[in-house]
Amino acid sequence: MDNNNVQRDGFSSRLGILFAAAGSAIGLGNIWKFPYITGVYGGAAFILVYLLCIALIGLPIMLSEFTIGRRAQKNAIGSFKTLKPNSPWFLTGWMGFIAAFSILSFYGVVAGWTVDYIVKAITGAYVGLDADAIGGLFVGLISNPVMTVVYQLIFMILTGLIVYGGIKDGIEKYSKILMPLLLVIIVILDVRAVTLPGASEGINFLFSPDFSALSAEAVLVALGHAFFSLSLGMGTMITYGSYIGKKEDLGSMALQVTIADTVIALLAGLAIFPAVFAFGVEPAAGPGLVFITLPNVFNQMAGGMIWGVLFFLLLAVAALTSAISILEVVVAYFAEELKMPRHKATILATAAISFVGALAGLSYTSVLGNVLIPLPGFGSLVIFDWLDMLSANYLLPLGGLFISIFVGWIMKKEDVIDEVSNSGAIKISWFGAFMILAKVVAPIMIAIVFLNGIGIFKF
Ligand code: PFF
Repeated sequence: MDNNNVQRDGFSSRLGILFAAAGSAIGLGNIWKFPYITGVYGGAAFILVYLLCIALIGLPIMLSEFTIGRRAQKNAIGSFKTLKPNSPWFLTGWMGFIAAFSILSFYGVVAGWTVDYIVKAITGAYVGLDADAIGGLFVGLISNPVMTVVYQLIFMILTGLIVYGGIKDGIEKYSKILMPLLLVIIVILDVRAVTLPGASEGINFLFSPDFSALSAEAVLVALGHAFFSLSLGMGTMITYGSYIGKKEDLGSMALQVTIADTVIALLAGLAIFPAVFAFGVEPAAGPGLVFITLPNVFNQMAGGMIWGVLFFLLLAVAALTSAISILEVVVAYFAEELKMPRHKATILATAAISFVGALAGLSYTSVLGNVLIPLPGFGSLVIFDWLDMLSANYLLPLGGLFISIFVGWIMKKEDVIDEVSNSGAIKISWFGAFMILAKVVAPIMIAIVFLNGIGIFKF
C-alpha cells in the first residue's frame, strides 16, 4: 500500500469499499425512517426535495469527507490535525467523535429491538394478535429493562466482533457478505409487496406528488435526513476515506454510494407501503411503522412468518453494516491518537458505547425514565431522545458545515484537486461545480437548516 507511515490497514478492493461505504449509508434510516417521512411530507413532492438535498449538499459533503480522510490517512480527529496543524480545526473531528458515540448509543438500542423481532417472528409471538395487542407487545419490549439491555448488548457485541477483525478482514469481509444479502432480501420483499392485490394504493401514496403537504418543515426534514442517511457530518466517511486506496476515483465512489443509498430507500418504501395499503392497515408514523404496523400486515399475509423473518433480518443487517462504520470512528481514534493496540481499542470502544447505550435503552423504562436532561431549543429530554436530538440537530449539521468549509475554503485548492484527481490521473471536469457546492451552496443551506432546527429563526 502507498500509505506514508507504518503499515495501515485498508480496503483491498473497489467493490469492498463500495459495499462498506454503502453499508454505512444504508441503515435503519433508509428502511423505516425514509418511507414514513416520505408518506407524511407529501410523497413524491418530498422525494424531489430530498433528491435535491442529496445532490446539492449530500454528494459534495461525502466527497469532501473522502477527500479529507484519504489525503490525511488518519482517523477523523487526526485528519484535521494533519491537514491543518496547530489550529482549532481538530475540534470538527472531535464533534464527529462525540456524534459517533451518541448515535451508536441509541442506534444500538433500536437495532437490539430488531434482533428481538427476528426472534418474535420466528417464534410466532405476534401471530393471531390484533393491532392493539401487537402495539402492547412493542411497548412491553421497550419498557422491559432486561430485554432492552440484553438485545442491545447482543447487537453491540456482533458489531464489535466485526470491527475487531480490522478493515480488510473485518469490515470489508462482512460488508461483502451482508450487503448482497440485504439486496436479495429487499428485492424479494419488493416483488411480494407490489404483486399483492391492492398494492397500487400504496404505490400512489409513495409516489404521487402532493405539493400541498410540502412545507418549510418538510425541507428541513429532508436535509436532516439526507445527512443521517448518507452517514455524513460525523467523520464516518472521513475514516472510511482514509482506508481507500490512492488509485480509486473518489468522485465516482461518492456518486455510487449516494445513488445506492437513495435507491435502497426507495425500494424500502416500495416494500412497505403497498403491503400496508393492500391490507387496509393505517400506516403509523415512527418506530410504530415497522414494529407495530408491519407485524399486523404479516399476520394477514399468506406465509407471513417468512416475510416477517426476512423483513426483520433485513433491518438487522442494514443496522449492522451502519453500526460498524460508526464504531470504527471511535476505534480508529483510540488506536491512532491514543496509540492503543487496535484490539484493545475495539473492546474499550464497544464496552463504553454499550454502557451509554444501556442508559439510553433504560431511559424508555421506569429505571431511568424520569432522568431528564436539558437541550437548548428542545426542553428536557430522556437520555435516548437527548442523544438523538443532540446529534441530529447540533452535531451532524455543524459537522457537515465545517467539513464543507474546510474543503471549500481552508484546504489548498491544489491539494483538493490533487487528491480528487489522483494527481492528475483522472479528468475532473466537474471540479468547478463541486467547489461552488462545497464553498457556498452547502454551507449556506446547512446554516439555514441548523439555525431553524434549534429555533433561532423560523422561515
Ligand atoms: N446512515 C445510517 C442510516 O441511514 O441508518 C445511520 C448512520 C450511520 C448515521 C453512520 C451516521 C453514521 F455515521
